[in-house]
Amino acid sequence: PSNGLARTPPMGWSSWNKFAEAIDDKTVREIADALVRSGLRDAGYVYVNIDDGWQGDRGPDGVLHPNVKFPDMKALADYVHARGLKLGIYSSPGPKTCAGYAGSYGHVEQDARTWAEWGVDYLKYDLCSGEGFYHTAETVRAVYQQMGAALNATRRPIVYSLCEYGRFDVGAWGRDVGGNLWRTTGDIEDSYASMAAIGFDKNGVPRHTGPGGWNDPDMLEVGNGGMTTEEYRTHISLWALMAAPLLMGNDARSMTRDTLALLGNAEVIAIDQDPLGRQGLPVRKRDGMEIWTRPLADGSVAVGLFNRTDTPVAITADWPALGLGDHPKVRDLWAHRSVAPNAAHMVPAHGVVLLRAKP
Ligand code: GLA
Repeated sequence: PSNGLARTPPMGWSSWNKFAEAIDDKTVREIADALVRSGLRDAGYVYVNIDDGWQGDRGPDGVLHPNVKFPDMKALADYVHARGLKLGIYSSPGPKTCAGYAGSYGHVEQDARTWAEWGVDYLKYDLCSGEGFYHTAETVRAVYQQMGAALNATRRPIVYSLCEYGRFDVGAWGRDVGGNLWRTTGDIEDSYASMAAIGFDKNGVPRHTGPGGWNDPDMLEVGNGGMTTEEYRTHISLWALMAAPLLMGNDARSMTRDTLALLGNAEVIAIDQDPLGRQGLPVRKRDGMEIWTRPLADGSVAVGLFNRTDTPVAITADWPALGLGDHPKVRDLWAHRSVAPNAAHMVPAHGVVLLRAKP
């Protein structure tokens, strides 16, 4: 049963990539303020997601409490909501989360109710420490189904993010257990090698995705320092072509102009958020160059010209071969200008030219 949420891929921020366990109430509030101040909330980044590390102990009644770093989750949710943002949280079906905090095992319905009472709007449910159910498709699906039903039973709209690393063909059943997105990979790292391995080659099964249910190639590393600006441009361009969730993973309180320009490009966000919801695919791969296309709701097509090599190359799009006729109208979404259809694009090493073409 669909919860009606995530008609386009979720956008926001998540604590893990930058802060890991060093996350607290104060930082989350400051991030919320930064999303507003930077304009990124208005660009679409509305979920403020606390990943692993917020959990404390259960009370005698079984209710899960946050740890000392999060004195009052309800107050934090109110703070986030007052800024036009939404709050996300994290748990696991096992007794422990991936970082060793209390998981929801034996308390699934109770935890869902607790989060709904706090005002939580998003749950990432991460397959950790469940030795009894970790290993078969049926048991993994069952634990995700149980939490999906528990979230729906709260009657609060809560986006449900499945994190089991793409096991057991999750795309084929993610929607059926109530999921709005499902990870397709292990964890991303802040390096070109890691990002490219995921972005170019681990895109899940596109035919399962569309409004309400998305492949999740993991959170963004844009702005964390391990890649060049061109490499981060490739990162966000691939995620937009893939109709991936755009969850910033950086310290949004201190962004460079380059980082803000990468994350806040409205024309690129429009590709990611296109209402048709079709995931883009590579249509051509040769000599370290890849051409990706994504059909869009208005009949235009997003086209990525990628250069995976270490030296710049000139790429000219073959429009008739891409089904766009001889003279499409073409716009360069990073340069913010119209370009001649027959232009040769100089694509930097590890870089991209992202176009939007209309026949
Ligand atoms: C797993 C997930 C990560 C993060 C950590 C937290 O590794 O894949 O995204 O949530 O757990 O412990």
